[in-house]
Amino acid sequence: MAQPTARIRQHHSELMGKFHQLVETVEALQTGDVTQRREELQGFVTFFLEELLPHAESEEHALYPAADDLICQHGRPTATMSLDHEAIVERIDDFKECIRRVLADETPQARDIALACLKRVIHYLDALLSVHFRKEEEALLALMDEHLSHEEAQEVIHRMHGHGEHHEHHEHHTNIFPL
Ligand SMILES: [Fe+2]
Ligand SMILES: [Fe+2]
Repeated sequence: MAQPTARIRQHHSELMGKFHQLVETVEALQTGDVTQRREELQGFVTFFLEELLPHAESEEHALYPAADDLICQHGRPTATMSLDHEAIVERIDDFKECIRRVLADETPQARDIALACLKRVIHYLDALLSVHFRKEEEALLALMDEHLSHEEAQEVIHRMHGHGEHHEHHEHHTNIFPL
């Protein structure tokens, strides 16, 4: 039997499908094209305003309150932050691979393709890191500033440093270094 939340996952996958089409179209746009594609471009704005934002609003309204209760009972509140770290580690791997391809002794054509990938990955990392740091600062560190003493915060910072050094020589860094 399908998961109880299958419909939400399905909706996500439809939204992502449309979004990826939009990304490809926007990336391929040439200056000369835009005036003939006025309606298509306006349609992209409509997609965000009439499909993506209402989805987010419906989550704020119904999904998150239900999730808050479940997290308190069965989950870990920072699990989503750890998922960000996993995504960041994956994108850094992609970045490393793109740099390798850009610097490889390839044809100019292959290098152009690699460079385009590199630019896409850096924008992806930009989005991921800025939202991740914002979540940490506005949701986590703000709570710590409000509820921890200087000494307690120092203790956390001290343990962060100790942890990073301890794992310095390990091969697998996921969820270890402070991103
Ligand atoms: Fe969603
Ligand atoms: Fe982080």
